[in-house]
Amino acid sequence: MDWKRKHILGLSDFLPDEIEFVMDTSRSMEEVLSRDIKKVPTLRGKMVVNLFFEPSTRTRTSFEIAGKRLSADVVNFSSSGSSQSKGETLLDTARNIEAMKPCILVMRHNASGAARFLSRHLSCSIINAGDGLNEHPSQALLDLYTILKVKGKVAGLKVAIIGDILHSRVARSNIHCLGKMGANLWLCGPATLLPREMARTGATLTNDIREAVKNADVVMTLRVQSERQKATFFPSIREYFRMYGLSNNIFSLAKDDAILMHPGPINRGVEVTNDLADCGRSVILNQVESGVAVRMALLYLMAGGAHVAD
Ligand code: NCD
Repeated sequence: MDWKRKHILGLSDFLPDEIEFVMDTSRSMEEVLSRDIKKVPTLRGKMVVNLFFEPSTRTRTSFEIAGKRLSADVVNFSSSGSSQSKGETLLDTARNIEAMKPCILVMRHNASGAARFLSRHLSCSIINAGDGLNEHPSQALLDLYTILKVKGKVAGLKVAIIGDILHSRVARSNIHCLGKMGANLWLCGPATLLPREMARTGATLTNDIREAVKNADVVMTLRVQSERQKATFFPSIREYFRMYGLSNNIFSLAKDDAILMHPGPINRGVEVTNDLADCGRSVILNQVESGVAVRMALLYLMAGGAHVAD
């Protein structure tokens, strides 16, 4: 398959074949990461700029490592300490960075649509690393990669996504990604955080965590996105945990070989108990590990590709 996309802004318009292609490319990248010398010269002479206007641990580090494993020059920009605090607009900041000739901008911003906006004004490639509550495509692709690695398939699996669906870009990208790949998706959360129109995606909606987790193959819990909540969506954190927190008791309703996922950062004792987050069926750190291979694949494809084996 020829890769034709200049930008990766979201997965809503991705075709299943493209998703498969990213998975295949990620497997080649994982092979590179299994070598003694985990580095190839594929992106030598190319610059990747991480432009992050929101906090990030996993995503930013993972894109940085991915770029370095491919020999790109990686530059990290974070809004604190930048001229944004002096009143510069997003577009001016981005144009200035573009003047330094990056090949790819990896961008996180709290405004939904920010990555798409820049893609209309800049000539370099843009990867959306999370825009407001809209999309987080690389996270969903690494989630799919992790599921495929552990389960061998995703089509027909019951995947329950639990928590603050309303404010979650991870949920939105996963609904597109896992849905296109044939998963049987269940979305669960308090009525205030589970928009009814999500039923249009083909997913089954429920406010009952037991129903969502029952016989699930994959249970994905989400962080409550307090920073995006402008109102009170549930009475208290204690109440939330009692109704929607994942405990051993609830997780035991899933299939015996079910896996537990979480995009991080985890709030232990809120969306998941301490024990469960660290249990043998938790693949939370596997997700982080997959993230490097998947992001290497994305950078590689966006930069025009070359032989990984070089
Ligand atoms: C997520 C994000 O930033 O959207 N984290 C991540 O990228 N791994 C989820 C979250 O912040 O809850």
